[in-house]
Amino acid sequence: MSKSVLTAVAWPYANGPRHIGHVSGFGVPSDIFSRYHRMMGDRVLMVSGTDEHGTPILVQADAEGSTARELADRYNRVIVEDLAGLGVSYDLFTRTTTRNHYAIAQEIFAGLHRNGYLVPKVTTGAISPSTGRTLPDRYIEGTCPICGYDGARGDQCDNCGNQLDPADLLNPRSKVNGETPKFVETEHFFLDLPALAEALTEWLKSRTDWRPNVLRFSLNLVENLRPRAVTRDIDWGVPVPLQGWDDRTDKKLYVWFDAVIGYLSASVEWAVRSGDPEAWREWWTNPDAESAYFMGKDNITFHSQIWPALLLGYRGLGSKGGEAGPLGELELPTEVVSSEYLTMSGSKFSTSRGTVIYVGDFLAAFGPDALRYFIAVAGPENQDADFTWEEFVRRTNFELANEWGNLVNRSVSMAHKNFGEIPAPGALTDADQALLDTAAAAYDVVGGHLARSRFKQGIGEAMRVVTAANRYLSDMEPWKLKDDPERQATVLHTALQVVADANTLLTPFLPHAAQRVFETLGGTGVWAAQPEVREVVDDIPADPIGVGIPDMGRSYPVITGDYSVEQAAWRRTPIVAGTALSKPSPLFAKLDPSLGETGPDWAPIVRADTVDSAEDAPA
Ligand code: MF3
Ligand code: ZN
Repeated sequence: MSKSVLTAVAWPYANGPRHIGHVSGFGVPSDIFSRYHRMMGDRVLMVSGTDEHGTPILVQADAEGSTARELADRYNRVIVEDLAGLGVSYDLFTRTTTRNHYAIAQEIFAGLHRNGYLVPKVTTGAISPSTGRTLPDRYIEGTCPICGYDGARGDQCDNCGNQLDPADLLNPRSKVNGETPKFVETEHFFLDLPALAEALTEWLKSRTDWRPNVLRFSLNLVENLRPRAVTRDIDWGVPVPLQGWDDRTDKKLYVWFDAVIGYLSASVEWAVRSGDPEAWREWWTNPDAESAYFMGKDNITFHSQIWPALLLGYRGLGSKGGEAGPLGELELPTEVVSSEYLTMSGSKFSTSRGTVIYVGDFLAAFGPDALRYFIAVAGPENQDADFTWEEFVRRTNFELANEWGNLVNRSVSMAHKNFGEIPAPGALTDADQALLDTAAAAYDVVGGHLARSRFKQGIGEAMRVVTAANRYLSDMEPWKLKDDPERQATVLHTALQVVADANTLLTPFLPHAAQRVFETLGGTGVWAAQPEVREVVDDIPADPIGVGIPDMGRSYPVITGDYSVEQAAWRRTPIVAGTALSKPSPLFAKLDPSLGETGPDWAPIVRADTVDSAEDAPA
């Protein structure tokens, strides 16, 4: 039976271009998942956007000498192009600086406040002793109280990933002038997590099928819940929608508070743009709908604890009671799928260390499917994984090109040369039938893995069909059957059917190549649909309040697509004898093995000894 599936994909910060580590965590896995569900006939809504508030944006804007808004505008476009180029099939990829997003973030805040789950509290904030002005979190650094890293920022430690308050830092200092900040009283709203703890725990205990590491981590978190600040001393963000607060330029909603609400606001924006403003409810207020959230592991806290807590509080399901606001009884995540980190020879991807491979450069050089393949087979699904050029060359040349590309090429070439079309089969032997059965059985096996977000196992099983077909051709030697055209036709028909099956099984992973194989087998029209970038105007009816809300009528790019036109379906599509074939061209270009030794010139392999001496060198 078909179902409604929300694919909620983590929102990349618009503070720079994305590297391949980012898209291995959220982009590629979520797209494989969505494409599989669409092929199953499910109603998929896939949403995300750029995350444009908070310290990460301001720090980079300072570094580039631009305003936060300019910076976000610039990188939003870069990220949109990269993700579309990778073929990530969002229904809507938008951004957090839309009026619609501001209005919905404010409604969730207001609903939580009405129900009593947001409480004002005086706490300590930092000021600069020399100027007396508020010192925003991003300008404070010090030693992380959790891992001891000395470059931790006031809002978070980039070493261990924990979220911090400036007052937590040991040995805090101002990044502006090195002075020790003075901590003074400042008022903020706190999310009453203790009042939501019971509901949260009960919900988590029902999530038995999550990846074990995610579940264990999340259950640990709820054991020790303290109220958590959801407003910040910052001048860039969504205004706090309360009298006396909304006109303040120095207090805004915490970036993580507004960002997670993006899943909902993007769904609403998608519905309005598609002409049925209430259509989002199918995925949000329908208890039968499923929702899967995709992210890197440093985001788990916000998706398995904060976001569900906001939803529970908005619905009035905590110990303080309350009632759902006009958005209704919003559903909690069905599944939180988190991946580990992609490293490059041992170090976590980081721009400061210079070992960065940007998605845009990668796509320009190698196209999307080689990267998608690498991430699917060798990505950080359950443990940290290392990207090396050597391994990339090996996977591309020996698996993609030699195994899969070559299977397509030799079976279609032989059929084209000997028959000019897909030949009609004669009687099947046991070997023919066995191969066909192997391929037919793979739909359930691979599908079972994909439904559970086990992408590595899924692609492994799909590639076993490819291996079996290659072995079949080597055993049957159809090139030697010139004198027995009927047997040759049967073997080639069988092989081509299994090529079509393998192509279907690989479609969620390699959608661009899948379209080409489909055409190589004589198909016409769209097999696997691709997303498109479209320019839209911020003209959605929404009434956010306060100072600094985005102007109406700004134009921005979104990723969207019409995926209903695609023919790909998760079942065997019988090939049709008599379909004309033309001479195939190679599916995947082989890479020069020297790439594995040197890397490309835009991301050369840096040997460990050179890295160290570069870092030790005086600036
Ligand atoms: N921008 C965050 C990051 O890159 C992810 C935000 S996910 C969201 O870590 F749901 F909160 F938007
Ligand atoms: Zn730390």
